[in-house]
Amino acid sequence: MRTPILAANWKMHKTVGEAVAFAEDFLPRVADVEGVDVVLAPPAQSLDRLSRALAGSQVKLAAQNVHPEEKGAFTGEIAPGMLADLGCAYTIVGHSERRHIFGEDDAFVARKAAALLAHEIRPIVCVGEQLEEREADRTFEVVESQLRGSLAEIPAGRAAEVVVAYEPVWAIGTGKTATPEIAQEVHGFIREQLGKQFGDAASGMRIQYGGSVKPDNVYDLMAQPDVDGALVGGASLEPESFEQIIRFDRGNAE
Ligand code: 13P
Repeated sequence: MRTPILAANWKMHKTVGEAVAFAEDFLPRVADVEGVDVVLAPPAQSLDRLSRALAGSQVKLAAQNVHPEEKGAFTGEIAPGMLADLGCAYTIVGHSERRHIFGEDDAFVARKAAALLAHEIRPIVCVGEQLEEREADRTFEVVESQLRGSLAEIPAGRAAEVVVAYEPVWAIGTGKTATPEIAQEVHGFIREQLGKQFGDAASGMRIQYGGSVKPDNVYDLMAQPDVDGALVGGASLEPESFEQIIRFDRGNAE
């Protein structure tokens, strides 16, 4: 049984004050929610204050990025041990914005994911094809190669702690959500690939969908057998809409 995981990726949004104000509004709203993992990934400067705001709640903290080295001359970067010290339970790696804007490749993402696990932080490893790749019928090839490269350093026996996020680049911030059928097709493929690498553990690994997830489409996406969660950008910025997303199991009617 895979516990659904709904994560807010705030990207470069919210000051520290705005992040804390979100938590104050959001936590009482979701205090009764059970059976799902809820995660907030604020910009790095809010991690400390948000960590304190989330203490005692079931909502977990995540960073949006990490550097794989323990320490050293890496100006502007944050080490995995520093994120552990702040109470991060998860960290996003390989987001398409990191890959495409900042030029990060699979090998770098793989090092980050392994470094996080060494500090007991669960990596959320993102993969996903660009529009031209989908149009050229290369989706599976691209996703297969990103998975193979980005998960290359996950130690045997730790696979169940890894979350994979399928985020088709053409669906991110565009309002063009993948249909539930498209999402399931790729998620099913991803689980097959995970099975090749990790064997039986693949059935326990969670695969999130990301890309224009909203309160009105999350139910149909989550109804797919291999969609185990969502990684949400824009619709996670308001407490009310992220609350609705977390309560996806109430269906579209409410
Ligand atoms: P949107 O939900 O804004 O499309 O962003 C998705 C995303 O990139 C989450 O990591």
